[in-house]
Amino acid sequence: MSRTIAINTGGGDAPGLNAVIRSATLSAINRGWTVLGLLDGYNGILQPDQYPNGGVMHLDRNAVRGITHLGGTILGTTNRGNPLKYPKTLPDGSVETVDISAELVQRIKDLGVDALISIGGDGSMAIANALCQHDLPVVGVPKTIDNDLPHTIATFGFDTAVSFATECLGRLHSTAESHDRVMVVEVMGRHAGWIALYAGVAGSADAILIPEIPFSIEKVAEKIQQRYERGREFSIVVVAEGAFPKDGGLLYESQGDVKRLGGIGELVTEQLRNRVTQEVRTVVLGHLLRGGTPTARDRLLAMRFAAAAVRAIEEENYNVMVALDPPLCKYVTLEEATATTKTVGLDSDLIYTARDLGISLGD
Ligand code: F6P
Repeated sequence: MSRTIAINTGGGDAPGLNAVIRSATLSAINRGWTVLGLLDGYNGILQPDQYPNGGVMHLDRNAVRGITHLGGTILGTTNRGNPLKYPKTLPDGSVETVDISAELVQRIKDLGVDALISIGGDGSMAIANALCQHDLPVVGVPKTIDNDLPHTIATFGFDTAVSFATECLGRLHSTAESHDRVMVVEVMGRHAGWIALYAGVAGSADAILIPEIPFSIEKVAEKIQQRYERGREFSIVVVAEGAFPKDGGLLYESQGDVKRLGGIGELVTEQLRNRVTQEVRTVVLGHLLRGGTPTARDRLLAMRFAAAAVRAIEEENYNVMVALDPPLCKYVTLEEATATTKTVGLDSDLIYTARDLGISLGD
């Protein structure tokens, strides 16, 4: 049966998006289907005058040639312009947000699209779920460096982020040791500590602070001082951007009307300065974790998810998100996929491992 499918990428980018686009496109073309890419999330199709070809890219073999190893997304993405809260300027000049999902679905259907593959994180899956309510068949593909989507063992982008953060910790070790410094390294991850914990253990950090364990700065300082007294005059502290002190709240950096997590690394540094002997410095890895070429593991995961998404469309198994459940990919409803956030379990093996190694978790 001939079909036309659309693909879009939404939210923050993650290494592996292009691998999904190529795998989904080839899997669809090999079935004789037509593939359309929607530009910049849904922005292209919502503002067709501002984009080439009405915000739609025809995806054929040429369009996806040689992109598996590239970071970013050839379709572009955005974490602004949520169709469920779309900014609308009123006659008096004020702006309110409205739900334009019905109109968006109509525009997608007008392109002759039978089904959409929506690649994104929790926000994108919530939008996908809303589009399904307007009878657009959607299959979600979970993407995020944060690894915080439930029901899937992994999301692509995470392994690349962890590998790069681990490499950075290695580099910071040598300079920290040369200068007898404490380096505080802030990593992304939103309200989950996956990146901090994985990279922190793999990169031999001395303290790892994650949102799941509110920390005491005294405990972190104690660990650093103990090391100092044992002759280890440098220390590495990894802090997840969503970590917070026992006696304080989350830290945000505001830019206009946008509020983003950030600043906890600097706070930890300031607080340690009064409590430890050495100089303390901060490094924020930030968007470096989202850039660059995906690891082989992320490429494979991305390609498996995409092929599984095309199989779901073939079987008319809609309104689901693909999830990794080794040795297979499974499907969970978009409802289930958006109901919770996957955070680090305090009874997880890696937490036990960190404690056994003597890494301070700040508690
Ligand atoms: O969800 C991925 C992520 O990179 C988070 O770790 C981070 O908090 C957020 O996106 C930052 O998004 P941006 O700077 O693109 O708005």
